[in-house]
Parts: sequence; structure tokens; C-alpha cells
Amino acid sequence: MIKGIMTVRHFLMLISLIPLVGMAQSPRQIIDFNKGWSFILGDDSNYVKPGFDSKEWRMLDLPHDWSIEGRFDSTHPARNAGGALPGGIGWYRKTFTTNSTGRKVYIEFDGVHRNSEVWINGHYLGKWPYGYTAFRYELSRWLKPAGQINTVAVRVDNSQQPNSRWYTGSGIYRDVKLVVTNKTAIKHWGSFITTPQVNSQSAIVSVEHDVQRDGKGVLKFISTVYDAQGKKISEVNATTSKNGKYYQTLAVNQPQLWSISHPYLYKMVTKVFQDNKWVDEYSSTFGIRYFNFDVDNGFSLNGQYLKILGVCQHHDLGALGAAYNESAARRQLKILREMGVNAIRMAHNPPAARLLDLCDEMGFLVMDESFDMWAKKKNKFDYSIDFPEWHQRDLEHMIKRDRNHPSVIIWSIGNEIREQFDSTGITITRDLVKIVKDIDTTRPVLSALTETDPEKNYIYQSGALDIIGLNYKIDSYKDFQKNFPGVKVIASENVSGLASRGHYDMPSDSLRLWPSSSKFKYVENGNPDFTVSAYDNVAAYWGVTHENNWWQVKRYKYMSGLFVWSGFDFLGEPVPYPYPARSSYYGIIDMAGFPKDVYYMYQSEWTTKPVLHLYPHWNWKEGQLVDVKTYYNNADEVELFVNGKSLGRKTKIDTAFHVMWRVPYEAGELKAVSYKNNKQVLSKIIKTAGADYRLELSVENKIINSKKNELAFITARVVDKEGNLVPDADQLVKVNIEGAGNVAGMDNGNPADVNSLKDAQHHIYKGLLLSMIKGVKPGQLKVTLNVEGLPPATTLITVK
Ligand code: GAL
Repeated sequence: MIKGIMTVRHFLMLISLIPLVGMAQSPRQIIDFNKGWSFILGDDSNYVKPGFDSKEWRMLDLPHDWSIEGRFDSTHPARNAGGALPGGIGWYRKTFTTNSTGRKVYIEFDGVHRNSEVWINGHYLGKWPYGYTAFRYELSRWLKPAGQINTVAVRVDNSQQPNSRWYTGSGIYRDVKLVVTNKTAIKHWGSFITTPQVNSQSAIVSVEHDVQRDGKGVLKFISTVYDAQGKKISEVNATTSKNGKYYQTLAVNQPQLWSISHPYLYKMVTKVFQDNKWVDEYSSTFGIRYFNFDVDNGFSLNGQYLKILGVCQHHDLGALGAAYNESAARRQLKILREMGVNAIRMAHNPPAARLLDLCDEMGFLVMDESFDMWAKKKNKFDYSIDFPEWHQRDLEHMIKRDRNHPSVIIWSIGNEIREQFDSTGITITRDLVKIVKDIDTTRPVLSALTETDPEKNYIYQSGALDIIGLNYKIDSYKDFQKNFPGVKVIASENVSGLASRGHYDMPSDSLRLWPSSSKFKYVENGNPDFTVSAYDNVAAYWGVTHENNWWQVKRYKYMSGLFVWSGFDFLGEPVPYPYPARSSYYGIIDMAGFPKDVYYMYQSEWTTKPVLHLYPHWNWKEGQLVDVKTYYNNADEVELFVNGKSLGRKTKIDTAFHVMWRVPYEAGELKAVSYKNNKQVLSKIIKTAGADYRLELSVENKIINSKKNELAFITARVVDKEGNLVPDADQLVKVNIEGAGNVAGMDNGNPADVNSLKDAQHHIYKGLLLSMIKGVKPGQLKVTLNVEGLPPATTLITVK
């Protein structure tokens, strides 16, 4: 490429990079390395060569996932369990210059799925099989002198499939950074902050520095703590050292404790001096908090009892695939917070580092999980192949990268691991727990288990776990303390309820297990449109209803909390249907971010804000019996009216969190009113919708920052003349954008819609559609949604 004819775009890219590296003389530079990569889907050994001309390749910015750009197809080797999208082999290249002679230059990847291999200027740096852990390579030795062009090439191989039970995505789907340091510097993730003593008056903050040093000079450390406003509040230079590590302790008076309602963050900046020369500066965000798991009393945070109200989340962001996007992740967390969620289980692998930053900032507790399998496989080509050689590095990297996050309160070493059923589980568990404890002893270690007989569970038998994570098996909660005396417990996963947003089959008051057993063929007995009823009465045979599950967790204080499977629908695992189903039905929220009805059951139980949710829609056949349900709180009873006639008041019982009426349908108005002490609290009306009349748009993020890759989220609702949602609307919508912007993804939450999620057109599903819009450069975007048979709808977005 250097010798070849340079295109204008490559030239511009180079020029723009030159000032980035080596300009300022601060001891440590952290450079965003996401922009300006070239990419090709395919494989050729010539791609490593620095002189290779890649000008025909596509230019893109990271994070990037090529699988989501493909077409859904049942013949892709990932199969529909893996999202029915293509894998394959792809290459990325990027050119840059530095003037960092004599310094250390590293390239840091937060996650590449999977089997990545990296070259700098044709020199092989190494491979990293696991797709979910962060890693880095040192480039310095092979870099060209200042001003000359360097080429980094990355090969990503996700061709061997199936390798996962869910959608993984393919490519450099998380951040890449270039880090420049002196030869003496704090190591990768080398400062570890803990808060060994905390009360409301003061906190002791300890920090351990792991340093790589060059030469013998005396090392000095000055660590300063800043509050959230950036005000310096504490500083230390006294340092002790032991076994090559350096230790400092600071006091913070009147600390602001980190909690879910007050996620207060401090910053520590450590300056390192060698023979009085300033050689490094390392900064970390941290929180001051303490927590405890108790055998009888469950969980407490900062001395206060708190039930952990969590959901399991896979890493994909729906229509964006696995490519991390902060505004999409923030939107998911906001929707979960509104529901009352206070904890996330990162199922079943380490998440993007930036997602943990968001959890710190927004006040979510986190179970950070390393693996879905150990040496025994769940899929032919999965991580079990790499586990023997790589597990230590992968686990260490997760713990080191994530240990300063106040949000992280549990390390999980595995999900439903096969080794729980044989004696190898004992040794592997001990080995993994030791790897964790050698780095961090401030958090409990668990493994998410399904075997509830202590005699038969070898992972439990290891005696190495601090807490038992129980997946499903809610019937075992009752006698848990008898069967596992003195053991702490959390419901690490449960429910696996199934639902399509806005779809209702009558009647609703019997439980359907679907599939009903492992022998069940799921093509039978399905709905022709691949829907599942959303009355919270359908679950996979290993699961239960949301209500039943929550009651079992709620009633026992020693159950310190739960993680419902799942918060959002995700790509892959489309139980109970075969293809064209290609994403899950498990979510409390659909993949587009639209809540299913049971969301409001949780909201009524997990928040204190007044809730009255009434469903289903009110468009049925005259005379048909329709089950009408409400979720409510802050009230003693709810009254239902059909066209003004009262059908009586009802009150919830302890074990169920709804009330229901079976109503012969008549078109018109359905109304629910909640009362406390006979005084009205809330009322809700649903009217029979007339003909489609227009699209109603609402926008989250009307102002977006193009540099930060922010997205605007446009929700379109098909409404009738009076503004009632038309519950079966399914028109095709085409998006047109005037201005420098494009469609990042579109989704309607239908798990069996095999139209691409990346096109600028998509169907409405049950009245709703999401469009995610990205700005390319500052300016205005005029976004128009053109819909069959209705007037176009327009909204304006400002790009900064
Ligand atoms: C669990 C498993 C999850 C998911 C879920 C679906 O057993 O841990 O990853 O597969 O079942 O019901």
C-alpha cells in the first residue's frame, strides 16, 4: 500500500492519524484506535504483507460485526440457535505512523470474536481464541521510525460453527486502543483499588500497583483521589512494597458511598516517578461501597438489606448485532431501570468494558461471568477446545480488567457446566477459584448450577465456591437451608418464560410448557405466524412463569436475589420454534426494546412508582371470551369496566401478581381503575382501534454526537384517527434520510422476521417499529418514514 497508488481516502486517513500518536509528551497516551480500518470478508495469506494494496477494501470504523450485515438463512452453519447469520473469515487492516521511538507501544483489543491473529508490519504477534476477553500486544519492536507508515493486520476466524448456543457476532466488535508508555510503567490493568474499611464517616482506600520497570532507579508513587466534581480530596506518596508490587493507602473522609440509587464515582490518578523523573500516569475510576451475602438474610449493600433484582443479558444489541454501541447499551439499561431492575448477569461471558462503566455510572450490580463451558463441550467447535490451554489467561484477564468496577459484586466461573456431573468438576472448580482468588479476594465466586442434589454436584463438592448459584429448580428453594446447611445462595438464572409482544392466545389460565420435554418436536402445535402468547403462561419445560418464579424468590429471605432469563430478547436460541424463528422469545422486553406485558408485573413489584397496566388490546371478534389482566401496585383493588359497565372489583392474592376477568368481547372501551381506601389511584383505557390512519413518531436522543457514535431511536406507532394503537398493523416502512446520516438498524421485535435488520426498510410488527439513526457529521437530519397506504411521517435530528 505504501508503494502503491494511494487513493484520496487512504491518504486522508493517514494524515488524520499522524498527529494522534506521539504528539504530546505525557508519560502515557491512550489513543482511540477505532476509526479508519479497511475490511474484507475472505481470506488470503497476502493480507498480512505490509505492501499489500487493500484500497479496494471497505472502509469502516470499529466496533464492527460482519455477521449482522448478512442475510438470515437456515443453512448458515451457526443454525438458528446461533442466529441463522453467516460466520466466516474476515480481515481488518489499518495504517498509522508514530514518533514514539524508545517508548512502548501496545495495541489493546477489548474483544474480537473469535480466533483472532494479529500482525504488525508483517510480523506475527499472536492469536487469541476466546471471543469475549480483552488482550493486548506490544508493537514497539517492529514499528517503523517516526513518520514512516506502519500496518496492522488482523485476521478473524469465526468459520468453524456451531461454536455457541446463541448469536456471537463476528469481527472486532469492541473497542481498540493504542497505548503508549515509557519502559517503566504500570502494567496492563496494573492498579487494583479496594476499599477494605468503609463507614459513613470515613473510608480506607488501598491500591496495589503492578509495575514493569526498566533500570534500577528508585520508584515513587503519588496517588490522588478526586471526587465526582474533579476536586482533589486525598493524596498519598507513602508506599510499601512486597514481592515486586507496590502498596498505598489513603483515607477519604465523609465518603459518598456507591449504591444503586446513588452511583457515586471517584477517580484515582497515580503518578509514577523513577529517580524523580515522571515516568507514568495511570487513572482508574472506582466506588466506595461494601456488601455482604448472608446465609439467612440474603444480600446487603452498605449495611442495608437489598434483594438483588436482576436479569440475564446476552451481549448483542439486537439489530446492531454484537458491535458495541454505548447509546444502545444505555437505552437497554434505562428500560431495565424503569422496570425496577438493579442487577445484570453478563450471560455467559465477560461484557464490553464500556458496559461495565455504564453499570458503575447508572447503579447496576453485576455478576461477571467467564464461561458457558469448561473442558466438556456444548457445541462441536466451542471454547471447550481452547479451555485447557487458555482458561487461565482468559479468566485472569476478566478479573484484572473488571476488578475496579464497584458494580461488579460476583465472579461467576461458569454457567451450567457439564463437569458438575462428574468428578473432574472438583479439580477444575478448585483450579478456577484459585485463579480468581490469587487476584481478587473481595468478591464471592460462584458457578451457576442446575444439579440440586449436593451429593451429585461435583462443582459444589469441590468446597471452593463462596455462594451457590441456582439455575431454575425453584422447588428446591423451600428446603435449600436443610439440604445445603450454612450455604449462601442466589438464583443465578430462572424463568425462561416465552412470549411475543402483543400476541394473545385464549384462554390464559393454564400453563403451557413448550417444548414440554426434550423429546418434543416443536414444529407441532405452533401458531402459523410463529407467535407465542404473552399472558405469562408459556415457558420452556425447564422454566416456570414469571409470577410463580418471583413469588418463590420473594418469599425466602435467604434467596439473596435472582436473574431472570432474560431481560431483552437476543439473537439466536429461538425456542420454541424452528427457522424462520431466529431470535429469542425469552425476553421481558423484545429485541427492539418494546416491553412485553409482564414487564409491568415486575414494575409493579420492583418499583414504588404507581403502576396500573391493562391488557390485551381491544380488537376481537364480537362475543369472543377475552382474558383481561391488570398488573397494579399502591392500591387495594382494581375495577374493570366494559363500555361503562362495571365487571366488579378484584384484589391480588399473595402468590399471584395480577387480577383477571374473562370478558365477552364487545367493541368500544375497556377501562381499569385502581383504588386505595376507595379512592381512585390510577385509571387506564384501551379502545377498539379503527382503521390505520397515520404513523406517530417518538424519538429518544434527538441530539446525537457523531464522534461518539451516538444513535437516535425512533419509535413508530401505527394509530387510528383517535390515536389508538392499531394492534395488528404490519406495513412495510422505508426510511429516507436527508443530511449526513444513515440507518444503523431497524427492528420490530418479531423473532421470526427474516428481513435484514440493517436495511433502511422494515415491517411494522403489532403496531410498532424501531429505527436507529446514526449521524455521520454535524448538521441536521430530516428522517422520513414512508409507509404503505399512509402519509409519510417526518422528524428532525440534530447531529453534533
Ligand atoms: C439456560 C441457559 C441459558 C439459556 C436458557 C434458555 O439453561 O443457561 O443460556 O439457554 O437456558 O432457557
